[in-house]
Amino acid sequence: MSLVELRNVSKIYHLGGEEIRALDNVSLDIESGEFISIIGPSGSGKSTLMHILGCLDSPTSGTIKLDGTMIQGASPRELARIRNRKIGFVFQFFNLLPKLNVLQNVELPMVYSGVSARERHERAVAALKMVDLENRSKHRPSQLSGGQQQRVAIARALVNSPKIIFADEPTGNLDTNTGEAILQLFCKLSREGSTVILVTHDPEIAAVTPRRIEIRDGKIAEKVDARLAGLDRVARTF
Ligand SMILES: Nc1ncnc2c1ncn2[C@@H]1O[C@H](COP(=O)(O)OP(=O)(O)OP(=O)(O)O)[C@@H](O)[C@H]1O
Ligand SMILES: [Mg+2]
Repeated sequence: MSLVELRNVSKIYHLGGEEIRALDNVSLDIESGEFISIIGPSGSGKSTLMHILGCLDSPTSGTIKLDGTMIQGASPRELARIRNRKIGFVFQFFNLLPKLNVLQNVELPMVYSGVSARERHERAVAALKMVDLENRSKHRPSQLSGGQQQRVAIARALVNSPKIIFADEPTGNLDTNTGEAILQLFCKLSREGSTVILVTHDPEIAAVTPRRIEIRDGKIAEKVDARLAGLDRVARTF
């Protein structure tokens, strides 16, 4: 059984009489421990796919099974519970709460999952150590650099030991060197056994992951590994 099983998933938006097929009959399996990038041009459906895989949104049709649980028909409250227990998110603009300090931001998902104050503190400190920020725990997000804020967001995504970590353009708002450091952090998490999915329009980032899922016009266009991608490029030059 795969960690995630997506079957014939479509997401259709209706806007001003126009039908937009943001996802068009997508089927996909993700195994535990995979390190994947979802790539494709702007508007191709990457974020929509991530939102459905991450139980932030429901499909118009089709089914999703996550860690053995059929998600279909779950209420918003149940979806929130599944997300809190099983999924960690990292976003382009960090989404930290400005009035909370670093430690409180990292503790927040555990408040919702009912972890005791003492354990929250211990786990938050451990997560901050993982991203090398234990010496910034009393700072507010505005008192940190962009890369540091993203590392706090990654620590927050990790504290409930999620089955899967999604990151939507996690380096999109960072300079090249800082983005590289964040990418290295995801590589480290992957080596340590986390299931990590990066959404990106940047082919250089996608080149780092062993599996790439390419989306075009809401459909999966191709899935290739790095070696085959190289061969493909060579083949096209003839
Ligand atoms: N709430 C919405 N209502 C209507 N259409 C939407 C909505 N959200 C997304 N879309 C449309 O669905 C399509 C896919 O959008 P999506 O955000 O998934 O693209 P993306 O690949 O993440 O793009 P980007 O790289 O720019 O972030 C686009 O055509 C978009 O305009
Ligand atoms: Mg997007």
